Amino acid sequence: MIVNRIICSCYISNLIPVIFLFSFEDNPADELVAAVNSNRTGHKSSSLFANPGLGCVALEYIKAYKGQCGDVGGNMRPPNSSFTEIFAPDCGIDAKSLGPITGRLIACQTKYVKPDEAFGLLVRDARSLEILHDKGHREVGAATVGTDGGSPYFWGVLFSSGGANGSFSFEGGAPKPNRPGCYSGANDDCSAAAVRAPAGRGLLAAVSAGVLFVLAYL
Ligand SMILES: *[C@@H]1O[C@H](CO)[C@@H](O)[C@H](O)[C@H]1NC(C)=O
Ligand SMILES: *[C@@H]1O[C@H](CO)[C@@H](O)[C@H](O)[C@H]1NC(C)=O
Ligand SMILES: *[C@@H]1O[C@H](CO)[C@@H](O)[C@H](O)[C@H]1NC(C)=O
Repeated sequence: MIVNRIICSCYISNLIPVIFLFSFEDNPADELVAAVNSNRTGHKSSSLFANPGLGCVALEYIKAYKGQCGDVGGNMRPPNSSFTEIFAPDCGIDAKSLGPITGRLIACQTKYVKPDEAFGLLVRDARSLEILHDKGHREVGAATVGTDGGSPYFWGVLFSSGGANGSFSFEGGAPKPNRPGCYSGANDDCSAAAVRAPAGRGLLAAVSAGVLFVLAYL
């Protein structure tokens, strides 16, 4: 989604107001959460709170695959101990505040797609729809990251039944950016460039490897 925002409405001369408009892409992880909530409410499930702490954990979760798409397909998942030992500290989250994970959708693909297409990749069969619409979820976190400056691209959505305001809380109170990659709920602008940064040789690898796509769920 390209959003126009009025950054400055200021007077260059005494008489003529000048409005500067800047366009930029919103955070792709926030757009993925919007797609999740829109689909849930379209199917009579509640809209979920976009918890930034859970978003950051989702980013750490997909980074834990270290760019190995095949591991997603092999239904491997980071050990549960990573939540307290790696994800929470890397996000600056109080480990005691971690809530239960009630669902996950992970996809990995060599080609970068827009968030609405990523939603279609993550939710594409009966099992993933069931996870998406589960009535036990109360909050959601989404993230996306490229690997080694490019392909493959990972998309992840984690669901939790944790209380919306006490769970996955940042030690300093405020969310902090965790680059490379983008995560939802922090009200920050994170362009697709941050997903790919640092730019590099990955795109070439994507071209030569052809399109690989892999999906996994809890
Ligand atoms: C929800 O997502 C599924 C899978 O992509 C799609 O088939 C369905 O039409 C969507 N429903 C709504 C209300 O958007
Ligand atoms: C890891 O966590 C998941 C989801 O919370 C749970 O289903 C699974 O049993 C846990 N595995 C272990 C070994 O504790
Ligand atoms: C947090 O949630 C609890 C229970 O849902 C509620 O009583 C409390 O007012 C909330 N606090 C804030 C700061 O929103």
